[in-house]
Amino acid sequence: MKALFLGEREKSHEDVELILEGVFGLSFDWATNLSEFLDKTVNDSFILPIIVESEFSNISKIIDRLLKLDLKATPILITNNPKYSGLSGNTDLRFVMLKTNSDVDLIEESIEKATGLLRQNVNKQYHPVHIYRFLKFNNVGADVYIKLSDEKFVKVINKDEMYDSGLIEKYTQRGVEKFYIREDDFKLFFNHFQTLLRNELYKEEISEEKLIETQLSSVSFVHEALSSFNFSPDIVELVENITHSNIRLVKKSNTKLFDMLKHIVRSKSYLYEHSLMTSYISIEIAKKMNWSNTNTLEKLSLASLLHDIYLDDKLAKVHDIEKEKLKELDWKETKRVQDHSFQIAQQIRSSEGFPPDLDNILLNHHELPDSSGYPRGLSALKISPISCIFILSEKIAHTLFFEGDSGDTVNKLNLELEKYNFGNFKKAFQGARLIWGKN
Ligand SMILES: [Fe+2]
Ligand SMILES: [Fe+2]
Repeated sequence: MKALFLGEREKSHEDVELILEGVFGLSFDWATNLSEFLDKTVNDSFILPIIVESEFSNISKIIDRLLKLDLKATPILITNNPKYSGLSGNTDLRFVMLKTNSDVDLIEESIEKATGLLRQNVNKQYHPVHIYRFLKFNNVGADVYIKLSDEKFVKVINKDEMYDSGLIEKYTQRGVEKFYIREDDFKLFFNHFQTLLRNELYKEEISEEKLIETQLSSVSFVHEALSSFNFSPDIVELVENITHSNIRLVKKSNTKLFDMLKHIVRSKSYLYEHSLMTSYISIEIAKKMNWSNTNTLEKLSLASLLHDIYLDDKLAKVHDIEKEKLKELDWKETKRVQDHSFQIAQQIRSSEGFPPDLDNILLNHHELPDSSGYPRGLSALKISPISCIFILSEKIAHTLFFEGDSGDTVNKLNLELEKYNFGNFKKAFQGARLIWGKN
């Protein structure tokens, strides 16, 4: 099948083109006038017609002509004009309606609906789980697979089989990063894992290093689980457990913050390590500001654990949306970065069990004091003080992850943080200066 656009090529819908090509493996062509469009469509029933409405005034004529053809695909109409919304309900001819600048998922869904073709490279039957997570178990109560190709998965551990760390190391050495669990076993696996983590997070007799490791595993588990489930009560409970474990540790520990952060950085995953670092740092800054009531600490820690869940390692590293960095990303990745604050804020707003105001911290986590942040470019007076603590903490976590905690880094950070010394950032700035013992 091939897609055929009717419209001006210059005003191309590159987003739709890229998904046709990259996700569905379809080629495409353009026709700039109706007769060329109809000629091509009449001669090839395996064409997916895509009409860009803004270019043509007489849509009904086109619709009449398409009605008479025996097309294998349902035509797509790209339009923002509400007067056409009734067309999709027409029983003679169902159009798939698509608004311009729709998000990636919606575009994919529309093409899937119009063509009946499934997206490539997506295998929803198998859920990926990071391999090092299996070191925690010697039995997972689920069949475990490795992926050979998009279609082919091979079982490496049987449901009732006991295994040891040697097996996991063997696969790690071969470069295997993820194991896969089938959809029907995943819920069971999830519950099993969750119980294990919960027990460890609340263990009294556990070394700080081991506790940090458990918190890291829990963070990565939450991120992975959220790619399969929504915010179920189970997941919300697990996130809260991690939050409380973080707060208890940072509040009570006699270990210096930097020494704890050192235990976090294992360079296995920026995303998980960065989330946990941000949590510790924000709790410590709030403590120094004498804002350490449980409510505030909970919100900061929750925001830290959840703020980048819609990103992967590569995209989470794009801390400031600088033009230089964006050049390295394709349009789909850029859009994911631009949208992730909105997405997580919206998700939290519609989920139960989270404190009010958490959505705002999430929405604003890439705003900056000089209004150069995103998505809204707020000024330092429009960003709430608790968001300011979060933004500063993330900045510090990001720098320490890449540059370590030598005196040079601290000096550099001290200098950079000066930029935050105004508006609602002032108090958070003063707190941040105290976390390495300077003021
Ligand atoms: Fe982040
Ligand atoms: Fe982010």
